[in-house]
Amino acid sequence: MTDNLADAAPLAGVDLKQHIRGIPDFPKPGILFYDISTLLRHGPAWKEAMRRLAETVRPHRPTLLAGIESRGFLVAAPLALELGLGFVMLRKRGKLPGAIIGLNYALEYGTDRIEMQADAVKPGDRVVILDDLLATGGTLAASIALLRQAGAEVPAAAALIELTSLNGRARLGDTAFEALISYEG
Ligand code: PRP
Ligand code: MG
Repeated sequence: MTDNLADAAPLAGVDLKQHIRGIPDFPKPGILFYDISTLLRHGPAWKEAMRRLAETVRPHRPTLLAGIESRGFLVAAPLALELGLGFVMLRKRGKLPGAIIGLNYALEYGTDRIEMQADAVKPGDRVVILDDLLATGGTLAASIALLRQAGAEVPAAAALIELTSLNGRARLGDTAFEALISYEG
């Protein structure tokens, strides 16, 4: 019988790409979907991904993390525990109770909206935003703008995956961006 704790020891040196699969034609024909499910369900690789992300994020000296619904929550919550910080939920429209602030942003077709609780951050907080993946950067750019509107500084954002050909990082202004893995497509 294997010891669960030993199983979950991080895998220093692992190639995280080996734990991510590309699924063609999802959610639409012609789109290659980078699926993190296989990374999430491999304890040691997932733990190593969080360890590397903690190393990447720590120098930006955050006082708080923020995660973008929904896959960003999977990254922000364990990282907040690892760094001993709290985390804030950036949610899709209509999900949060109480006083809310939000921002609409453009998609390829139509618009979307990101919201947070109005009292989630205070002026002077240094918030690092986490998501699973950076594509066009629209979601992350709106999240940065919303947190700044609430008075926070956003020194950096990070994700597991960056799709470099879409050049999403160009939309992030002076917020630094770090990703553990990048793909051309
Ligand atoms: C995906 C992904 C990022 C965003 C990246 O989320 O998880 O949050 O899109 O796209 P962008 O850089 O072009 O804005 P999605 O809206 O599919 O929702 P989910 O996280 O709830 O699955
Ligand atoms: Mg998402």
